[in-house]
Amino acid sequence: IKTIKDLDLKGKRVLIRVDFNVPMKDGKITNDNRIVAALPTIKYVIEQGGKVILFSHLGKVKTEEDKKTKTLKPVAERLSQLLGKEVLFVPATRGEKLENAIANLKEGEVLLFENTRFEKGETKNDPELGKYWASLGDVFINDAFGTAHRNHASNVGIAQHLPSAAGFLIEKEVKFIGGAVDNPERPLVAILGGAKVSDKIGVIENLIEKADKILVGGGMMFTFLKALGKNIGKSLVEDDKVELAKSLIEKAGDKLILPVDTVAAKEFKNDTEFRVVSVDEIADDEMGLDIGPATVELFTKELKDAKTVVWNGPMGVFEMENFAKGTMGICEAIAKLENATTIIGGGDSAAAAMQLGYADKFTHISTGGGASLEYLEGKTLPGIACLEK
Ligand code: 3PG
Repeated sequence: IKTIKDLDLKGKRVLIRVDFNVPMKDGKITNDNRIVAALPTIKYVIEQGGKVILFSHLGKVKTEEDKKTKTLKPVAERLSQLLGKEVLFVPATRGEKLENAIANLKEGEVLLFENTRFEKGETKNDPELGKYWASLGDVFINDAFGTAHRNHASNVGIAQHLPSAAGFLIEKEVKFIGGAVDNPERPLVAILGGAKVSDKIGVIENLIEKADKILVGGGMMFTFLKALGKNIGKSLVEDDKVELAKSLIEKAGDKLILPVDTVAAKEFKNDTEFRVVSVDEIADDEMGLDIGPATVELFTKELKDAKTVVWNGPMGVFEMENFAKGTMGICEAIAKLENATTIIGGGDSAAAAMQLGYADKFTHISTGGGASLEYLEGKTLPGIACLEK
């Protein structure tokens, strides 16, 4: 794909779609990673003398009431702090105010307009809306990797009307996640966890073809263990996916490695009795809430010679201290790898690595949730496919 460096930006009105869909609590941003991740592109356009026009969605907007809480204003403030520069926030998604503000923008100045989902046409990719937004600029940069799996007016619609290119963040995500799946240095080891098999079916199917080893932990391990005929007690299970798990196990052969032990408790809470138990000895009234130490050892051994590692989904209920050791052990094993490209596919595993203090040990932590999953499934992402080749 074309990247930002292929475009002449001097004096141009540069429309940049970013993913500023950041978590908020009571109007305060609780994690600004996505804003930080967009800085290289924004700074580059400023340095090149472009006029920066930023836009993003924030959350899901279903009612008029939502518009009160889903404003991007706090994001403009945070971005301004991070850039050390004024960011003009325009509380509109179209109209004279926005058009005048853009007309008055000087080279190197930065403007952010309001939540793109305040427009009903955004998520329907209404052609009129994409065309209108395109009319506000001279070139279009898409740097919203987290939204690349959506076919919306503010990414795909707009790109049809302007010279378009990927920003540095999309370029980096494509290099690492795309590279890991399409052209990895081998062995490629995938570690998959999280609560539900149903969320990861596509990823497992794609990686069965592409990875050299797939290590499975997290809540979804119990659906696989049940498929092997084991008693899983009260552990999380998707009964309607047991047959599928069986066929995945058969298809994967010895590529797929399942846990040999678990940390089990009788209740789903941190302050309760728990024990390490073999996956063959889970009692009827117990539920597994983490992988056990023998599994951490087994997975660590499998990871030792990896040249590429892709991790998606925690190994246990890492939010509870007593059930975080499995996820921590995997972080530790990955942190020790010296010659491997190590990638976290976003979402919960990124949060886990951050919470447990391992974030800087990875080569790349994706800013995508759904987008990275679909990318790992081998799907084409519309927000990337729409950019000029
Ligand atoms: C995300 O957080 O996954 C992206 O910003 C997309 O958000 P959405 O799921 O509301 O489309």
